[in-house]
Amino acid sequence: MMRGKHIILGITGGIAAYKSATLARLLIKAGAEVQVVMTPNAREFITPVTMSALTGKPVVSEFFSANTGEWHSHVNLGLWADAMVIAPATASSIAKMAHGVADNMLITTYLSAKAPVFVAPAMDLDMMSHPSTAANIDLLRSYGNHIIEPAEGELASHLVGKGRMEEPERIFDVLDRFFSDTDELAGKKVLITAGPTYEPIDPVRFIGNYSTGKMGFALADAAASHGADVTVVAGPVDVRPSHPGVKVIGVESARQMLEACTPLFDEASITIFSAAVADYTPAHPQSCKIKREKTDLRQLDLIRNPDIAATLSSRKRPGQLTVGFALETDNETDNARHKLKNKNLDLIVMNSLRCSGAGFGCDTNKVTVFSPQGVIADIPLKSKQECARDIISILTRYDPYTH
Ligand code: C5P
Repeated sequence: MMRGKHIILGITGGIAAYKSATLARLLIKAGAEVQVVMTPNAREFITPVTMSALTGKPVVSEFFSANTGEWHSHVNLGLWADAMVIAPATASSIAKMAHGVADNMLITTYLSAKAPVFVAPAMDLDMMSHPSTAANIDLLRSYGNHIIEPAEGELASHLVGKGRMEEPERIFDVLDRFFSDTDELAGKKVLITAGPTYEPIDPVRFIGNYSTGKMGFALADAAASHGADVTVVAGPVDVRPSHPGVKVIGVESARQMLEACTPLFDEASITIFSAAVADYTPAHPQSCKIKREKTDLRQLDLIRNPDIAATLSSRKRPGQLTVGFALETDNETDNARHKLKNKNLDLIVMNSLRCSGAGFGCDTNKVTVFSPQGVIADIPLKSKQECARDIISILTRYDPYTH
């Protein structure tokens, strides 16, 4: 899919710049044309000679060529590109990109680029977790840039944490998949529930669970990449969609989730219920904080929450597809098949908490997809993004009448 694609590889001044050589090599091997643009600092970390030898093109890093006085047009470069990938992206370059500080060739090219931009941050963990970096990355995301989240691991400083630039193979994969995505879901609405629900006990306490929403948002990104018009109704989560087209409606409780989903469900061709909805909610949430001196709170009166998947799937019209999740600790297959039937779902995605690397919180998952007829796919352990892409591609091909 990369053959003939024009890629601007932006390199900024961080230790991870050495990995950009591998990325350039992978892109070139796959048939892309690569134009490297480096910030002045990046040249301290990897030489322009290395990069121009790998790409077969002179590296651009100044507005003018020192020898000839030739002006390098950032506008033409920006228009030439099918994609721009900035790897590594330092905190400083991210800040400049977020605020339009066009003081070097890379930032001016970024501001002129009409093509999708992919940003692979790389920095020390404290810089990465600083609120200003987080806010700048959020800004970039809100402008429609694709953020390739850094991985956790040992950093150049020997500290361990989040900030390592994603491996070149993975960045290549993100780009390759971007170009290979199809429009199979164009014109279709997809509704996804994600994250936990919080059921209020009083204004400061709630019943919740460990769901992070990562799987639901990965599904949303994957569906949007296939051209779908995606809305996520999410409980309280920190994750955001990477795809700029995904709409998010934030809710807290199961009741609010059902209320938000109900009008959207009728319009949706595909609904995926990936939220970990609390089964019960306090019968009498208090409007003031419960004081232990005044209340002997040893018991909580609970009532059942509505089953969002079952409620909405019971109104399913022909042509609407509903998909549930079953997170199990035992009797996995029987429980999943039981839920598929009871909730009137077309498909159910089962994951087991017994399998390490699957389920809540982690970045990977291992799932089995069931239709009423039995197992239709066993997806081995992979990142939640990759797993989501596999699930979405199954959905795009699934026809309940022929299975
Ligand atoms: O019954 P259980 O909670 O294990 O079922 C899981 C599936 O049902 C998931 O798809 C979940 O999103 C959905 N569900 C729901 N509303 C509930 C409980 C579960 O939509 N109240």
